[in-house]
This record gives sequence, structure tokens and C-alpha cells, in this order.
Amino acid sequence: MHVNRVSGYCHALALAHGLTADFAEQIQQASPMHDVGKIGIPDMILLKPGKLNDDEFEIMKTHTTIGAKILKGSKFDLMKMAYDIALGHHEKWDGSGYPSGLSGEDIPISARIVAIVDVYDALLSKRPYKDKWPVKKIINIINEQSGTHFDPSLVETFNRIVPKFLEISEKYEG
Ligand SMILES: [Fe+2]
Repeated sequence: MHVNRVSGYCHALALAHGLTADFAEQIQQASPMHDVGKIGIPDMILLKPGKLNDDEFEIMKTHTTIGAKILKGSKFDLMKMAYDIALGHHEKWDGSGYPSGLSGEDIPISARIVAIVDVYDALLSKRPYKDKWPVKKIINIINEQSGTHFDPSLVETFNRIVPKFLEISEKYEG
């Protein structure tokens, strides 16, 4: 269900942002691979209830570069996009993200889209250590972090299609 939601949000956000239907279809297929590098992270870190300490977080960060290593080298556009997303989905618009500290449009647009979608879905999901957040609060957080964490123009597009996001989360609940 998480995979369906992430795919659906990415597809909707890409189309609403004026990207091509081909691009939207590609991000729909590539986005579920964004955390593939987590197969290289020990379970005691992945499954830890609650906050990671500094050392654990440093290890967790490597899921981006591990994912990129798994996906790199393909001649297929879909896999190239999957590579960009795996490597870049924790970069931040202001350059404070990881693993490379890229900023602004140096971060591939596919990864900028997944950055918003990943946070939206994580906050909307119930986890062992937290309840799901009210949608209003999530929308506020995303807007507060427009221009710092997130691409401001994508946040504007997100704001326009919140009802579509809600539709997708209801369709693929759980
Ligand atoms: Fe991730």
C-alpha cells in the first residue's frame, strides 16, 4: 500500500507540475525503488522504535549511496531515474540534505518530487512509535519547509492538488 501511495502521489504531482505524461509514468514506476538501499542497513537500525542516535543516523544515511550503487549503470531511462531518486531523495533545496549537499535545481526534479511525497506519506502513516498526523498539520509542515527542505514551486503545485493526495491516501489506506 505504501508503494501504491508513493507511486500515485508522484504521478499526480508530476502531471500537475506540468511535466510530461511520459515523465509522470516513469516516476510512478521508479519512485518505489527510492529506499532500495535500505537492504544494506542492519535491522537493529531499520526497526528501532524511536529516534536514531548520531552513529545510527550516519549509517542510515548510507541507504542513498547503497541504493545508487545497486541501480547505477543502466542504459534504460527508467533505471536512470530510479538511480537519481535513490541517491537524491534526501537532498534539500537549501543544500542541507544528504548525501551530497546538492541544492536547488542541481537536485534532479524526480528526487525533489519524491522528497515531498516521502515526507507526506511518512507523516500520514502510523508507525510503532507514532500515530499518523492530521492532514492539516502535514500540509503546514510541508509549507513551512518550502524553500528550505522542499522546492518551493513543487510545494505550490502540491497545495493545488491536496484533494488528489487525499483521494490517493484513502484509496490505498493501510
Ligand atoms: Fe530514504
